[in-house]
Amino acid sequence: MAGRVALVTGAAAGIGAACARQLAADGLAVGVLDIEASRCTGTVEAIRAAGGKAVALGADIADRAQVNAAVAELRASLGPVAVLVNNAGIPGFCPFLEMTDAVWGEMMRVNLTGAFVVTQVVLPDMVAAGWGRVINISSMAAQKGAKDMAHYAASKGGMIAMTKALAHEFGPQGITFNTVPPRFITQTLMSDASFAASKQPLALDAEIAAGPITRAGVPADIASAVSWLASEGAGFVTGQVIGVNGGRYI
Ligand SMILES: NC(=O)c1ccc[n+]([C@@H]2O[C@H](COP(=O)([O-])OP(=O)(O)OC[C@H]3O[C@@H](n4cnc5c(N)ncnc54)[C@H](O)[C@@H]3O)[C@@H](O)[C@H]2O)c1
Repeated sequence: MAGRVALVTGAAAGIGAACARQLAADGLAVGVLDIEASRCTGTVEAIRAAGGKAVALGADIADRAQVNAAVAELRASLGPVAVLVNNAGIPGFCPFLEMTDAVWGEMMRVNLTGAFVVTQVVLPDMVAAGWGRVINISSMAAQKGAKDMAHYAASKGGMIAMTKALAHEFGPQGITFNTVPPRFITQTLMSDASFAASKQPLALDAEIAAGPITRAGVPADIASAVSWLASEGAGFVTGQVIGVNGGRYI
């Protein structure tokens, strides 16, 4: 993988930061993108301190002009993109009958349109190279459903469906599309905020105890699946939903 370039969105923190660090350890140069470039400093410094190459990029993933500018900056500094991890996303909890058009729309804008925009901007590099890997971080909420999360589950379900459709469309051009739907990954901004909002630490303890794997997940669990899906060895794997959830959805 050495010499290839990866772009990871939402890589300032949590799962995205772990994916960026892992891909850099695998030998890729990494574009570390988040809503503000200044937020990416920690991830970029960690990669450089470990001897890797990284650049901080700022863009709202659903704003095409900002994404165009960030990807142009990445191409100019590190080269064309071979691996894309669509990880940036927002959570949300809202009873369905109280859900406004604005709340629904913002969820779709970031989680689904954002992945559409970034993928469309980056994909020509992979088409030109005849090789590429796209890994979409969706959610177990799309597989199993989640109370008060109709908008979030629908946005991630759309991401899973888009992954499968693009696997068909771009497989002949050497590009694989897969999705990792996590559940219960701690040590991220999103999970810390969600667990605080839920005010139900006992329910979380009960979920851990219920297993099958009796621990919470950590960002490195997702990063190792992403690392494999990005690798040369995963070239016969496309259109797949690779659950990294401690067996909570089987
Ligand atoms: N943590 C979990 O348990 C869990 C479970 C299922 C799915 N996921 C998914 O995994 C992904 C990462 O989650 P996390 O827990 O690491 O969250 P996180 O909040 O720690 O990280 C998400 C990052 O995305 C960035 N971001 C948000 N909106 C953006 C936008 N419009 N443009 C650019 N960047 C934006 C945030 O600034 C943040 O740095 C998300 O897509 C989330 O839905 C997480």
